[in-house]
Amino acid sequence: MTDVLHDLPPGVEQPQAAELTAEGIVVRFQGLTAISDVSLECKRHQVFGLIGPNGAGKTTLVNCLTGFQRPTSGRVRLGGEDTTGWTPDRFRKNGVARTFQAGRLFRDMTVAENVEVTALGLGMSRRAAHRHAMAMLAWVGLGDRADTIAGTLPYTDERRVGIARAMVLSPAFVLLDEPAAGMSDAECDDLMHIIAAIPKEFTCGVLLIEHNMSVIMGVCDRIHVLDGGRTIAEGLPAEIRADAVVISAYLGMEG
Ligand SMILES: Nc1ncnc2c1ncn2[C@@H]1O[C@H](COP(=O)(O)OP(=O)(O)O)[C@@H](O)[C@H]1O
Ligand SMILES: [Mg+2]
Repeated sequence: MTDVLHDLPPGVEQPQAAELTAEGIVVRFQGLTAISDVSLECKRHQVFGLIGPNGAGKTTLVNCLTGFQRPTSGRVRLGGEDTTGWTPDRFRKNGVARTFQAGRLFRDMTVAENVEVTALGLGMSRRAAHRHAMAMLAWVGLGDRADTIAGTLPYTDERRVGIARAMVLSPAFVLLDEPAAGMSDAECDDLMHIIAAIPKEFTCGVLLIEHNMSVIMGVCDRIHVLDGGRTIAEGLPAEIRADAVVISAYLGMEG
């Protein structure tokens, strides 16, 4: 498996940036401040958790880190390089991939074609794109669904296709926006094993948004907590679990 994952076409090398950094990010939408002065750093060898109640600004921050949202102020750096003005396509070509809360698949295409399209868009030949797509699908547990029309997949499998697509061409960072939403406990468990393996298997940093606290505690190396667009805590899972401010932000959300 690892051989196929690293079997990149000639001339294509995995991007080398060691960290993806948000520096003092502010995002305002008309009257609403969705993000207020948030700074964080995802590292290549880590699963970095981003948590917080609905509306905390998690997706908006991921949009900033992937070129889908321009910050009102502050900047995003990739391996130290200022990314101001970069398009989502430029982020992806420089090794920053993401998934979306909703699948965003081409519903009339097959599952394999959905992954191949991304590989072709990143410059792979048809043959390499097909090989790579099949390897990624096998890795997310959808090897037997390659020929299924994407629009007929269950919602949770759509999300898995999104992850396969994000991992095409071995990105340096992958940002996963609630990949386990709607999954059963067993499906979520399976997925988290896959996600936890990404840093080692792909030499790729992960930013993971997930609501289930015990899941996030189990899989993350470091956790950043947003509430109302502000950072309320960052630390190791054990530190976050014991943080009084975090506990109060989450009161009433669990159980
Ligand atoms: N494009 C937008 N225009 C206006 N408000 C937005 C937009 N995107 C998000 N928001 C608002 O910004 C806040 C943060 O949203 P979001 O980042 O989606 O939070 P989360 O992902 O943590 O649930 C919410 O109040 C949301 O309604
Ligand atoms: Mg969100």
